[in-house]
Amino acid sequence: MKRIDNKELDLRVEVIAEVAGYLWERGWAERNGGNISINVTELCAAEAAALPALDGPYVLPKALPHIAGGCFLVTGTGRRMRYVASRPLENIALIRVAADGASYEIVADEAVRPTSELPAHLSIHDYLAGVGRPERAVVHTHPIELIAMTHNPAFLDKDVLTRLLWSMIPETRAFCPKGLGIVPYTLPGSQLLADRTIDLLDEYDVVMWTKHGALAVGTDLIEAFDQIDVLSKSARIYESARSMGFVPTGMSDAEMQELKEAFGL
Ligand code: 13P
Ligand code: ZN
Repeated sequence: MKRIDNKELDLRVEVIAEVAGYLWERGWAERNGGNISINVTELCAAEAAALPALDGPYVLPKALPHIAGGCFLVTGTGRRMRYVASRPLENIALIRVAADGASYEIVADEAVRPTSELPAHLSIHDYLAGVGRPERAVVHTHPIELIAMTHNPAFLDKDVLTRLLWSMIPETRAFCPKGLGIVPYTLPGSQLLADRTIDLLDEYDVVMWTKHGALAVGTDLIEAFDQIDVLSKSARIYESARSMGFVPTGMSDAEMQELKEAFGL
């Protein structure tokens, strides 16, 4: 970044650009759809603390004590993933949370206003830090087939969609062993959406926002993206079979059990 000379931080900017490109290529990022954040506190808190703010402070909907003083790379609100991919520094911000965890300021590279889903992103980072989990990256995106499946009430009962997606191809259970948690439809950008997502973070790999999109966390951003990609592949296999005119049988319970035992899932 121009305002901070830090190679590790630049590598995180590069991976945001890389994943933003994947989201666009997948067709998951219409207009400004989706957002990304990375907790970079361990990489640059001291340098970020020394920078004069470009904008803010902005009060957070609720104080976040576990990330007080922390800093985060976040995609900007209204910014297109295809341009995050090609011109990341113009479309993401480095923000610094105040020492009391109640507000944030934008410190680099330009005064890009963070995503409207900041309550979810920062609340999740606060939760992860609070319980000592290692994940530092959060991605939210709009995967077509997975969203379509949430329009069927029959798929929304607990773990119905997870079992269906697992049964489409063995890799899905292997790489997404905890499956997909479902948040009922909730207003985008709201603290309630953040809180409902956090409630499912320990139990599942990926959280689905009904009729809206998916959210995943990862130790790095590639890992978070891959989790959604794996589930999306299963959803596409299901859709493909349905459009060929049949309901896919899916792997049997015995085949799933064999997989579970073989891979210690
Ligand atoms: P932002 O452009 O504010 O990140 O919003 C995109 C989105 O997907 C909201 O859920
Ligand atoms: Zn969204």
